[in-house]
Amino acid sequence: MKKWTKILISVILLAIVVTAIVLPIVLPVENEPNTTTEATTVAPNPTNNRIECYPFQNMAKGNCTSAGCLWDSKNQHPNCYLPDSSVYGYEINGTVTDLPNQMGFTLDLRRRRAADDSTTFSLYGGDFDQVTFEVNYYSDSTLGLRFYPKDANASELRPPVALTLTETPLTDNVHYETRIVSSENGEPFNVQIIRKSSQAVIFDTSLGGLTIAEQFLMISTKLPTRYLYGFGENTHDNLLHDMRYKMWPIFSRGQAPGMRDINVYGAQPFYMASEEDGSSHGVFLFNSHAMDVTTMPYPGLTFRAIGGMLEFFVFLGPEPESVVKQYSDVIGKTFMPPYFALGFQLSRWGYRNTSNLKDAVDRTRDLEIPHDVQYADIDYMDARKDFTIDPVNFGDLPALVDEVKKDGLRFGIILDPAIAHERTGYLPFRRGDNNKVFVQWANSSYKPEGQAANDNNLYGRVWPIRETAFPDFFKTKTKQWWTEEIRIFREEQKLNFDILWIDMNEPSNFLTGTLLQCPTNRWDDPPYGTMAAHVGATGRLSEKTICMASNFGENDEFLHYEVHSLYGYSHAMATQSALRQILTGKRSMVLSRSTFAGSGKYAGHWLGDNYSTWNQMANSIIGMIEFNMFNIPYVGPDICGFNLNTEEEMCERWMELGAFYPFSRNHNSFIFKDQDPAQWPDTVAVSGRKALNIRYRLLPYLYTLFYDSHTIGGTVVRPLYHEYPKDISARSIDKQFMWGPALLISPVLEQGKLSVDVYIPDDVWYDYYTGERIEVLGKTNLSAPRDHINLHLRGGYILPAQKPALNTMLSRQNNFELLVPLNDQNSASGKMFWDDGESFNTIEDGLYQINTFELKADTLTIKVEKVSNKSWSGITQLLDTIQFMGWSKNPTSVAVNGVILGKDSYSYNETNQNLFLFYEFNMNDDFVVEFQ
Ligand code: NOJ
Repeated sequence: MKKWTKILISVILLAIVVTAIVLPIVLPVENEPNTTTEATTVAPNPTNNRIECYPFQNMAKGNCTSAGCLWDSKNQHPNCYLPDSSVYGYEINGTVTDLPNQMGFTLDLRRRRAADDSTTFSLYGGDFDQVTFEVNYYSDSTLGLRFYPKDANASELRPPVALTLTETPLTDNVHYETRIVSSENGEPFNVQIIRKSSQAVIFDTSLGGLTIAEQFLMISTKLPTRYLYGFGENTHDNLLHDMRYKMWPIFSRGQAPGMRDINVYGAQPFYMASEEDGSSHGVFLFNSHAMDVTTMPYPGLTFRAIGGMLEFFVFLGPEPESVVKQYSDVIGKTFMPPYFALGFQLSRWGYRNTSNLKDAVDRTRDLEIPHDVQYADIDYMDARKDFTIDPVNFGDLPALVDEVKKDGLRFGIILDPAIAHERTGYLPFRRGDNNKVFVQWANSSYKPEGQAANDNNLYGRVWPIRETAFPDFFKTKTKQWWTEEIRIFREEQKLNFDILWIDMNEPSNFLTGTLLQCPTNRWDDPPYGTMAAHVGATGRLSEKTICMASNFGENDEFLHYEVHSLYGYSHAMATQSALRQILTGKRSMVLSRSTFAGSGKYAGHWLGDNYSTWNQMANSIIGMIEFNMFNIPYVGPDICGFNLNTEEEMCERWMELGAFYPFSRNHNSFIFKDQDPAQWPDTVAVSGRKALNIRYRLLPYLYTLFYDSHTIGGTVVRPLYHEYPKDISARSIDKQFMWGPALLISPVLEQGKLSVDVYIPDDVWYDYYTGERIEVLGKTNLSAPRDHINLHLRGGYILPAQKPALNTMLSRQNNFELLVPLNDQNSASGKMFWDDGESFNTIEDGLYQINTFELKADTLTIKVEKVSNKSWSGITQLLDTIQFMGWSKNPTSVAVNGVILGKDSYSYNETNQNLFLFYEFNMNDDFVVEFQ
């Protein structure tokens, strides 16, 4: 049967079923989470599904009801809420039309009116009467839903962000069903997406509230679960969302993450949810406008966005990692970091001069703390202007960079997007202005008084705290100018940096709303400002940024209002492209403060200006996990905290935890004390070194996880829930995390604690340090002296490792090792990706190899997959040690490729059941190792 026929039958059948019922129709089974859950439990209550009428307006009863909303005097949120959908929302206005190849359908909708046709209900005005609803089947597990005005060209309403989406023909194994739950008889239009295997209704608009207006789009969905994750960028105290009408703003802003509930640097409109049977799904709202999202105890969600269209991508998983992969199929795979970017990094704002910076490098090396990248913050600039060097304090920076690089370190420098408005002398501005690369006012009448008639640039005030113009990275000429400025700077100054750290790209502006008021217009003051406008001091969207009524795009076709949250995305894209052109053949790295969905293709992210507090140390795990779900796996916060003076014990614990952030960098702000680990030689340096040596040892495993994320998608760091989705307790764990499927990290996050409460899922686990199998599973308490971070290896996985060294240039020359924790079937498997670590496109060009490892029935097989024999010479070092954990008996003989080894080639420890094999395996050959 053709797809559209099925849908039509479904529509008709359901119409029959529901004719007698008004609403709600076909409610999904409300899956109460198991009673042991730590998710928010809410007693059934008829008010659990109310959609607030006018958030932020504190409506009194009279205003509420005269606006057509319902009022409930009980002191219960929300007390002014939408009536049932008899007078608003949309209804079907036509029949289903198939899309080409039956890969979806469209359906016309019309706005509902009161029975007598006299009134329409509108919250903020501008509602479209005729709307198209479109469903696209992209694959068996991914589909799209969108609502747009009938006359609009949907693709023009999409954010200017390239998707990497392809259509894969459906098979018999399609995971979902789309159900239109309304008749054509004037009932409200509702749609459901159902997981076929369990019949869980994972998306369901029947709570009402659907609004498609020019500057206000609203939709609510019932969720089949309260296990909800994601949405950003915000500081979340828990990985699981609070479902009690909690609203979160999504709009990029240069806002430090300390204050609760505020929108910070990036915009990530994506959530994941774990269903009752352990299946997971993900939903991405592809919209770059300011928006907010409110949880609902029902459980449900309400999205309110202020432009574009409502376009959702739904990913059916069902494994959590599959959801993240399916999401990456749509927004693009993550960039492959160079190997050195996995090393430890050091930075601070406030190095006084090069020798002060060099001291930090030296004392780190003297204490043998592994260190790969050193940064210079805006201190290196002359008066904080991009593309300049302070001649007095940092004049010899280029020489210093070359010097530290000789020892194998790499160097990163900061660049801010805003350019000082200096018409004489400062060429980056002059050249940019001549090329019209800067953001322009949307209307010249908006310009502040006194600005020259022939100058339509919008000026703000950000570094260097004077007038600054803002490059518009959506313009080709801006990207060319940016590339050239970077090239000129690098060449003229002979400054051989390897990494660009791009900051302030929300875009940040210090003084908007105070000295530089934005003009009043429908973009700067939309009818519904979203929560973002209400959480700042100015009450406007322009809080800490530039005015919404300014132009972006090749032909000035976008308003800042539309693309604000894409500034960091476009900046990262331009910067990555510049580096690729300038550092020919070399893989570099961009670190961006602001991100959007898909930024992971171009850059990594640090979590911004956090505080040196225990609470923020704990929250960093949540932020890091969320960004992995968002497909930006190269992420980490400022270790030891950016704001405030850190404390010794906190910094020690934070260095231990930070050794396991994918992006591991200690950085802080200019007025606070130095906090590089060598400040405390007997404590922070000792524990930091110990943890970093473990990191460096496990880098081949971490690098392989990045390779997987880059090629097939998926997280690098993940919550326990991703590996144990059916385990209700695992779903809420956010104080521990995993590297891939095999390493569990359980840090101490509280002052004065010498032990840590952990949750160990029901599986086979070994203590990393002792190799011993751990007996107590579930909730338990582990000893954690000050210099110890608990690490556990999961049985069944083989982790490639390498002896550590002071930096990756050196560690990459050391021999490899394998860690082989056995599962209950006495087997394990794994792989290692390896290339030269720094050439660009090694994967695309086939200049890499993969070694696979498999232990089964007392036989370990090592195989090499050489992708090509072009200029890649293979691995030059040997694999010389293999540690098996959970090995039950001392072998009587061990043979490699049929040759029996001498007894001194292995040693067995009966107490911890560890077997060590010492043999020099050439990593370019295949081996069979047999044990008897
Ligand atoms: C803000 C950034 O978030 C921070 O990391 C940096 O140190 C300062 N800007 C100064 O550049």
